[in-house]
Parts: sequence; C-alpha cells; structure tokens
Amino acid sequence: MIKDKVLDGKHVLIGVCGGIAAYKIPDLISRLTKLGAEVKVIMTKSAAEFVTPLTFQSMSHNPVAVDLFSEPVAWEIRHISLAQWADVMLIAPATANMIGKIANGIADDMLSTTAMAVRAPVLCAPAMNTAMYENAATQENLETLKRRGVLVIDPDSGHLACGDSGKGKLAPVETLLDEILCASAFSKDFAGKKLMVTAGATVEAVDPVRFLTNHSSGKMGIEIARAARWRGAEVTLVCGAVSEEVPRGVKTVHIQSAREMFEACTSRQKEMDVIIKAAAVADFRPAQTAEHKIKKEGAEFCGEIRLEQNPDILAYLGEHKPSGQILVGFCMETQNLLENARKKLERKNLDFIAANSLTELGAGFAADTNTVTVLDRDGSIEALPNMSKFCVAQHLLDRVRACL
Ligand code: PMT
Repeated sequence: MIKDKVLDGKHVLIGVCGGIAAYKIPDLISRLTKLGAEVKVIMTKSAAEFVTPLTFQSMSHNPVAVDLFSEPVAWEIRHISLAQWADVMLIAPATANMIGKIANGIADDMLSTTAMAVRAPVLCAPAMNTAMYENAATQENLETLKRRGVLVIDPDSGHLACGDSGKGKLAPVETLLDEILCASAFSKDFAGKKLMVTAGATVEAVDPVRFLTNHSSGKMGIEIARAARWRGAEVTLVCGAVSEEVPRGVKTVHIQSAREMFEACTSRQKEMDVIIKAAAVADFRPAQTAEHKIKKEGAEFCGEIRLEQNPDILAYLGEHKPSGQILVGFCMETQNLLENARKKLERKNLDFIAANSLTELGAGFAADTNTVTVLDRDGSIEALPNMSKFCVAQHLLDRVRACL
C-alpha cells in the first residue's frame, strides 16, 4: 500500500454505527491520517456501546460527535458544518437501520442528518447478520442508495460475530481505504480511457518443476495500474509473477510465459487508449519444455538448456499501433542506459520510454522506489529524482495525459 501523503489537506468524515465491526475503524483512521487526511467521526449512540468516543478522538485528534439530541443548539449547526467540511463521507459499519433511514429520507440523529446534508461523495459499507443483509428491505434500500450515487462497498462473506457464516462481514480496512482514496484523492483525468499495463516477471518452464525467470516483483506495473484506476481509467493489468497483491478494481489477466503475455496484450491492443509495458519479459525461453521432471541421472539431461528467442511484445505493439494510441515502454539496463533506451524508443515506435538502471540503489527490481529517466520522441530527456514507485507512476501518467 502507498505511503505517500496523497490525502494531504483532505477532510474525511466517518459515520460509525452500532456494530461489532466498529472496532476496525480506529485502524482505518490511523491509516488515513498517515496519508495526510484530517478525519472527523460521528457516532450513533449504539456505536458508542461498542467503541468509546475517546478511542476515535484519540485516533483522529478531533472531537467526536455522538448523537447530540441532548444538545439541540450545537447539533443543528454541527451537522451542517460537518457536512460542508467533508471531502468524502464513509458510513462504516453501516447497519440495516442506518441504511434504511438514509434511503428513506429519515434524519433523526446526527449521523443520518449529516448524511442527508453532505454534497461530497458518500460511501457506505454495510456490516450485519447475513439474514438482515439479504432481507429484501435492506437490499432495496441499498439499491436506492446506489441509484442516488452512494458507493456501496459490498460486505465480505465469512464467520460473523453472531455465530452465523455468510455475507455481512465489513469489507477489509484496505478496501475501505482504497475506495476513500479513489473517491477523494485524485482528479478523474483518465475517465473514459482504457489503459493496459503489464507487470511482473514472465516465467519460462524448463520442466514441470523448474523455470527461467527474473527478479521483477511487479511493484512498478502495479503502482501504475493503481494510480490509473484512481484517476478514473478502465484498467487492464496483464500480470506475470508478482510478489505484491494486485490492486482492486482493475481487470487482471494472469499469465506465465512471454508467449502468453504476447497473446494477452496483442489480442487487446485495438481497444486500448494507452499501453504501458512495465513487465520484465524474458527474451529467451527453453527451446523445449520437458514433459516430466528432468532427472539428475540419465540421458535426458545433457548439462545444457538450449534457448530460443521470445517474441518482442512491445516491438509488435509498436508496429501495429493504432493512430491515437499512446505506447510507453520501460528500459532496464546495467550499462549504457540512455543510449539503449533511445534505441528501444525508436525501434519499438514508442511515445516515450522510462529508463531505470539496475545498478542504482533504490531503483529497478523489487524496491519500493525507483529512479527513472524519461526519454521522449522529440529528443527531450527528463531525469526524475528517486521517488516511490507510486509517484513515478503518477509522473508517467501525467505525461501520458499530456500526449492524449
Ligand atoms: O517489477 P519491479 O520489481 O517493480 O521492477 C520494475 C522493473 C525494473 C521490472 C521495471 O521498472 C522495468 O524496467 N521494466 C522493464 C524491464 C525490461 O524488460 O526491460 P527491457 O529493457 O529488457 O525491455 C524494454 C521494453 O520492452 C520493456 O517495456 C519490456 O516490457 C518490453 N519487452 C521486452 C522484451 C520482450 N520480449 N518483450 C517486451 O515487450
């Protein structure tokens, strides 16, 4: 997950209802504040039975509004001011009762009243017993909320506090965080654009047990996919072997070999506005893959593996590039980085190329950061300082946006 202060200056309002999952919200608040957000919390009276307002106050460093019917003067003003203050509002855990109230225009406590006055995006994460969740009234109320533009974050299935197993578990904190980021932190300058990005290492089988691969973790491509989704693109991630979780909300196509990646990319090329190839593709594969495990002893293994060349996917995409499509490559070298990058930029018909060196500390394979030099078709060169792979992704997307 990203560590950059992408929520700097953002106001996140969280409405907590009375459910056992309320205990997960302090962790969410902690993550939001680490990303730079200011967080304020409204609790229903029953939420305060599960987690004390003091917990939320300590985590958010802000006073917590509990249902304040006993203080009508302050209440009248505060629900409006909190509604105006919010850049995004999340109701989590959202109970059947609160969902019902908001869907039916009932505003009889601080939380439901504020929800009605908010003009910023509203996210609602239900959590309840499976039968209550599946009840027709709850489902209709959720549909009503969706129709009105509320983003409903579906609950997970699993073992519930009431002892049942089924759907109704609050979505994980990572999911809530991801949706808050998506709703509030980025302009949607890629809305309506289809973007394909490749990530990770290809894997070339020697036999059913062994393979040839490389050290790519997939982090660079995954951060591009994540940033593009948060900026509104419809993202397809063609994903080789990676050590990271793939981001939510992107269509992921898992592949193993370079030939599978070739097929996945070329079959989708025409429908894409942007293609970014951050994967580390094996240039060679074993000429033959043994059907059975190669034994140490015996004639089957002769001490050498004959290799043959894989297709150059990016070169093919460059050759068949539809007009208007933006094609971006990466270049990874251990020597003559810029010279080689310039050759690849031209030979593969790219709009620009991001060159990174394996020899630099905190760059290239597996690091959370990268140091990239961007080479353009017009001959310009921009050397970016070392920064998180997420920030590199943002820079590259800014460039793509300017080309589109
Ligand atoms: O995944 P990480 O651990 O985060 O590491 C990120 C990275 C170092 C893998 C990434 O930043 C990177 O540099 N990716 C490209 C690595 C690479 O294969 O570079 P290359 O110079 O060999 O290839 C040039 C370009 O052609 C690349 O866009 C590559 O995807 C593409 N290519 C290469 C060979 C091939 N057969 N088909 C291709 O499409």
